[in-house]
Amino acid sequence: MSEAVSSGSMIVVSNRLPFVLKRNEATGRLERKASAGGLVTAVAPVVIQGNGLWVGWPGIHLDDPNEPIPESDPNDQTPTAGLLSKKVVAVHVERGMFDSYYNGCCNGTFWPLFHSMPDRAVFSAEHWKNYYKVNQLFAEKTMSALMSLILEQKDSVATPLVWIHDYHLMLAANWVRQAAEEKDMRCKMGFFLHIPFPPWDIFRLFPWADEILQGMLGNDMVGFHIEDYCLNFVDCCQRRLGCRVDRKGMLVEHGGRTVRVRPLPIGIPFDRFVQLAESAPRVMLTTNQKVVLGVDRLDYTKGLVHRLKAFECLLEKYPEHLEKVTLLQISVPSRTDVKEYQDLKEEMDQLVGRINGRFTTYNWSPIRYIYGCVSQDELAAFYRDAAVAFVTPLRDGMNLVAKEFVACQINEPPGVLVVSPFAGAGEMMHEALICNPYEIHQAADVLHRALTMPEDERTLRMNYLRRREKVHDVNYWMKSFLKAMGSLIEEDGDEVLP
Ligand code: G6P
Repeated sequence: MSEAVSSGSMIVVSNRLPFVLKRNEATGRLERKASAGGLVTAVAPVVIQGNGLWVGWPGIHLDDPNEPIPESDPNDQTPTAGLLSKKVVAVHVERGMFDSYYNGCCNGTFWPLFHSMPDRAVFSAEHWKNYYKVNQLFAEKTMSALMSLILEQKDSVATPLVWIHDYHLMLAANWVRQAAEEKDMRCKMGFFLHIPFPPWDIFRLFPWADEILQGMLGNDMVGFHIEDYCLNFVDCCQRRLGCRVDRKGMLVEHGGRTVRVRPLPIGIPFDRFVQLAESAPRVMLTTNQKVVLGVDRLDYTKGLVHRLKAFECLLEKYPEHLEKVTLLQISVPSRTDVKEYQDLKEEMDQLVGRINGRFTTYNWSPIRYIYGCVSQDELAAFYRDAAVAFVTPLRDGMNLVAKEFVACQINEPPGVLVVSPFAGAGEMMHEALICNPYEIHQAADVLHRALTMPEDERTLRMNYLRRREKVHDVNYWMKSFLKAMGSLIEEDGDEVLP
């Protein structure tokens, strides 16, 4: 961990808290339900150890927003168990406003637009207004959090760090910065976007694009998964705001300040997945069947319809796989209030029915389709025992499924990863088979190649993939972020464009 940044001084700001609150029907009391994601695994310990704070939405609309947040259950073994309720700042947003901000602007506009699917994006002044207001609210809460942190740590020389996450909160930084400056409080601000940042031609479609860029430039450092997204952002700043930029040094000058732009590819808790894979019981289908695995939130960016069609094409073109290969697709329900997601659910149900109706025999069905959540143990077992992971998003910021699969591949000989070039993971996991999901016939060919790949080639590819992900795990990502922020503090923002 960087020495310049005291981990004691971090405030994380994200749309969701690292757990959700649920009301226990029997007792009427609020309870925490932990989140198992990699981000929480890496970031929560840093916040907890350093006495930091987490600002976010608690996942429930309360009649009384002052109802206290419960402490974690004494048996809780998850990374947020040690996050005391006084270290959690819940942002309560009135139901209608939240709906317009989250379902409307975040998931109805930014999600499709930033994934380069502008036809699916809805542009609404009403949603934008609510996005703006909710960002203001988050900024106010962050500011109070910062003040309490500074009061508590008044003897500390460390500069507090505010880390804002994702497309939900692209406007918040400037309000925090301005308030901190007015109160003469030191702080450094970082932002990380977990989804792609689109090229200029797409980004410019957003009617309030200037404000988004200005909001992101309110930070001292802006991080993205891969260099392409960094360059898109720098390009947009230059073309839309007329900023002076340095593409080589990844710097943007704006309002008399220089903002750093950095590729910080996220990783997974590699060792945790290995342990899960080692201990998880076998859950696969019949032993003589090869399983092609898909695991995704049910989201149109994940290319699920294309994937099913590619699998259908495989069965047509390569009938030797009939009765020998099964596609196991796990689709986790997501954003079910948004129409695009409801439509996709319908389309998938029909497609699975049609393909199964076409090929099923009395002892085999080509597709097993799970619409629901599976436990971490089951997931690790599926990853471990699958012959192929078929990870084919049309567009994806990174895609952690590709990485989790690789971590769990402890069987000898291992399986094969097939990944789309339109996911951040496809840019970096070079030893995977790369598959363009838009070309259904070619995707079927790649899948056939994966299913028939010789053992020694599988082993060679998987060894490389595993080695890289083990080193570049989620803790490495966390440290890279702190390092990028730490050197900023050491130099105290002296970096300027030549
Ligand atoms: C993506 C986003 C996250 C988000 C997650 C789940 O990975 O980058 O910020 O939390 O999807 O989506 P949800 O809308 O359920 O939070």
